[in-house]
Amino acid sequence: MNNEKHTEKDNLSSVVYKNDKLTLYKGDACESATFHNEFADLIITSPPYNVDINYNSHKDDLSYIEYLEFTKSWISNCFKWSKNQARFCLNIPLDKNKGGQKSVGADITKIAQDVGWKYHSTIIWNEGNISRRTAWGSWMSASAPYVIAPVELIVVLFKEEWKKTNGSKVSDIKKEEFIEWTNGLWTFNGESKKRIGHPAPFPIELPYRCIKLFSYVDDTVFDPFAGSGTILIAANNTNSYGIGLEIDEAYCDLAKQRIMNETNMLI
Ligand SMILES: C[S@@+](CC[C@H](N)C(=O)[O-])C[C@H]1O[C@@H](n2cnc3c(N)ncnc32)[C@H](O)[C@@H]1O
Repeated sequence: MNNEKHTEKDNLSSVVYKNDKLTLYKGDACESATFHNEFADLIITSPPYNVDINYNSHKDDLSYIEYLEFTKSWISNCFKWSKNQARFCLNIPLDKNKGGQKSVGADITKIAQDVGWKYHSTIIWNEGNISRRTAWGSWMSASAPYVIAPVELIVVLFKEEWKKTNGSKVSDIKKEEFIEWTNGLWTFNGESKKRIGHPAPFPIELPYRCIKLFSYVDDTVFDPFAGSGTILIAANNTNSYGIGLEIDEAYCDLAKQRIMNETNMLI
């Protein structure tokens, strides 16, 4: 059964929650020996963006070079932990304006390809309820204006071949969903930090769409930065197996609590 196939090294990670379909580990996505086999059919994740968010256990104000090294480390581990036909939905910023303009989306996409992931496409997530209109640069002057796009990217990659021949071969996506979601401009609101109790949760709609569109029923979906456990709730609600990895103990507890509250599972 899928949920038995991701074998972790006991000393590097610990199981904080497990049932028949979902497992949450406390551990480090940058530690390649955290798992020692290929188990993921679909990875959906939003890594730290290096925008100085106060995560309890992760320093989110690295130099850009250090951030790209961190990125390379966890993305190559994900490659190692993925099955041959795995897909990878990578939610990242388009760019960064604060503290020097950087082409973050392009740079991370290049790193992913450098470590072996193949490029498929990019979905633009038009996050309806965010305002990035705080820094105009030179107001009403061509001297140094700032252009800021209120969107994020979901870069879609795959490991060896795009066509899926393994798994249950059962897709339970509806006709209207398929038509709407294969249009690569997705518009839905971001999640409230306050409501979830985590500094950067993504809305469940994001993993929900990715799972329905890119995986079969009973596939194993994995989030190496599980945070408040959104991926595990989405996996539960879509008849998938879900694996989450999170470095911070308090967020692991939060994720456990959310699973209990939002899936009617007993812990
Ligand atoms: C952007 S948040 C992910 C939020 C998640 N998508 C959700 O909906 O709650 C990034 C998460 O990565 C965790 N993290 C940072 N470095 C990590 C590492 N090396 N290994 C595992 N988790 C890490 C942080 O503690 C944080 O919870």
